[in-house]
Amino acid sequence: MSASSVAAEVDWLFWVLVVVCGTVAVAIACVVIYSAIHYHRRSENELPPPSISNSVRIETAWTVIPFFLFMGMFAWGAKLYFDIERPPDDALEVYVVAKQWMWKTQQLDGAREINQLHVPVGRSVKLLMTSEDVIHSFYVPAFRIKQDVLPGRYTSIWFRATQPGKYHLFCAEYCGTKHSGMIGWIYALDPQQYQHWLQEGAAEGSLASSGEKLFHQFGCANCHHFDGHGRCPNLQGLYHSTVRLAGGSTVLADESYIRRKLFDPRATTVEGYDKNTMPDFSHQIGEDDVIQLIAYIRSLGPQPGSTFPSSPAEPPELYGNQPGIAYPGAPPLQNRTPGIR
Ligand code: CUA
Repeated sequence: MSASSVAAEVDWLFWVLVVVCGTVAVAIACVVIYSAIHYHRRSENELPPPSISNSVRIETAWTVIPFFLFMGMFAWGAKLYFDIERPPDDALEVYVVAKQWMWKTQQLDGAREINQLHVPVGRSVKLLMTSEDVIHSFYVPAFRIKQDVLPGRYTSIWFRATQPGKYHLFCAEYCGTKHSGMIGWIYALDPQQYQHWLQEGAAEGSLASSGEKLFHQFGCANCHHFDGHGRCPNLQGLYHSTVRLAGGSTVLADESYIRRKLFDPRATTVEGYDKNTMPDFSHQIGEDDVIQLIAYIRSLGPQPGSTFPSSPAEPPELYGNQPGIAYPGAPPLQNRTPGIR
């Protein structure tokens, strides 16, 4: 079964590789067998024929032809690889958390599922995945996609379902006793059916609204004020902006950065802020919570690809408190009280 935008091309590449390599292997075997039979020494007295020292034509042919054949296959494979690795900008984003032994999927609008994922047909879907324990692997054979899911970092993969249906999801990395039971279903729905399905799940509230609750529950709001007068940076506009760190380096505020600020806050410090203020949440929150908090922070800021702040005429602004850089709501350095916990 093939049911994604890349499946047909993956199959084509696979069969071309099989046919080309199979043909070459069979041709070489035939020449070896033929030569062994036809040229074998028939008696003790038979002398070998005079050897051919070299033939430029033959040697050029068997060097150049395979070279172009293999470079062609390489180029095709590389193009397909990049197609599979690079999600389109307009992809629907879904967060996936793997744990022994289940798949948890969360869409930004609040549809949360276990061992299943509903997606619309014809729309690109990008999965941002992490694991709570060991390495798993997200494998949907009908879509021809497989991606390892690692603890402590985000990996991603995308697909576009082309036919409505129900497709097997497997874990393709041995992850413990019930690895074989870590399976689920991807439901590809007609766009209308999908909308209907979304509305049924809307009662749960959006991922961002759950994140907002956590934001207050964990006390984040005590320091991260939106008027910029808190002890910690104002998080409005943070998502996908460039953050200037103490020491002068910069980092893109993506999911990995935000996650790291929660789990290993001392690793990086935003310039102008005290590095000891942000507590370590690694023993208090799980990957689900992190995803909800990220969704909340996303909801406060510009979407991926947009510049920060929202005026496209200006170059992307740096996040953090730089002299001369007008970050909305950020107080001048001397107005802050560094070191207060
Ligand atoms: Cu999870 Cu195998």
